[in-house]
Amino acid sequence: MLFFCAYLVKNNIHLDLNRNNMKLLAGKNVLITGASRGIGRAMAIRFAEQGANVGFTYLSSVEKGQALEKELEALGVVSKGFRSDASDFAAAEQLIADFTAKFSSLDALINNAGVTRDNLILRMNEAQWDEVLRINLKSVFNLTKAAAKTFMKQRSGSIINVSSVVGIKGNAGQANYAASKAGIIGFSKSIALELGSRNIRCNVLAPGFIETEMTEQLDEKMLKQWQEGIPLKRAGKAEEVADAAIFLASDLSAYVSGQVLQVDGAMLT
Ligand SMILES: NC(=O)c1ccc[n+]([C@@H]2O[C@H](COP(=O)([O-])OP(=O)(O)OC[C@H]3O[C@@H](n4cnc5c(N)ncnc54)[C@H](OP(=O)(O)O)[C@@H]3O)[C@@H](O)[C@H]2O)c1
Repeated sequence: MLFFCAYLVKNNIHLDLNRNNMKLLAGKNVLITGASRGIGRAMAIRFAEQGANVGFTYLSSVEKGQALEKELEALGVVSKGFRSDASDFAAAEQLIADFTAKFSSLDALINNAGVTRDNLILRMNEAQWDEVLRINLKSVFNLTKAAAKTFMKQRSGSIINVSSVVGIKGNAGQANYAASKAGIIGFSKSIALELGSRNIRCNVLAPGFIETEMTEQLDEKMLKQWQEGIPLKRAGKAEEVADAAIFLASDLSAYVSGQVLQVDGAMLT
């Protein structure tokens, strides 16, 4: 080891694992929806640390969104926060136009924005159903459709849609949320089939129980039950979901498309 270090110093060789050419997303331009908090925010930071230029959206958390833009710029990448409602079709088209005007290409689109409005089916009202389907599922259609032309012109692109293990297994009290997340899986597999010949990949991330503001809303009893049922015996971190997204956005997954990657500590096998 000593000889190796002396060799590096003598030959003026610097081993810096953070240098741009070592970064997994160097030079890539990515767009993440819903990055003011939680998993989206962790993705934005992790992606920037891996050299990506990051455009991201927020809706109600304006101050947090503006602060994130500065935080990402401090990491030495180009960053821009857009206040944009992912569930609004016209706003999604405008967002892609604004993104491509600022960034030279769109290499990865991460549809992460999502909400819960939990209730048992007997108590769930139409507004709770409609809102969750609109924000969680229609948003994925909106952004994918708006970005498709750009991806097709480039003949490259990676779409990562954030579903949930609940979309695979179902969950009592979350029929609206589970339906939206299951819908994302069917949608993504179809897009992978439809756009694959243009070198456009589409994959799904299905997180399990991840500690964020979203899961803070769940009741104590449900939280404890979930944690006990996880073979890794702990909740996941937003950064751990972000690391899986790095893989799907990077060229490391160049031959992976139409897949659902669970990030759930083996909660669901
Ligand atoms: N946490 C978990 O355990 C877990 C598990 C499985 C899947 N997921 C999924 O992972 C994703 C992120 O979850 P999270 O836990 O990080 O949630 P979170 O902490 O509640 O953050 C949600 C994010 O989505 C944004 N958002 C909500 N509605 C939006 C809209 N209409 N347009 C644009 N942005 C919107 C919010 O922005 P504003 O605050 O600015 O409105 C916020 O940045 C969601 O799709 C969720 O379903 C989470």
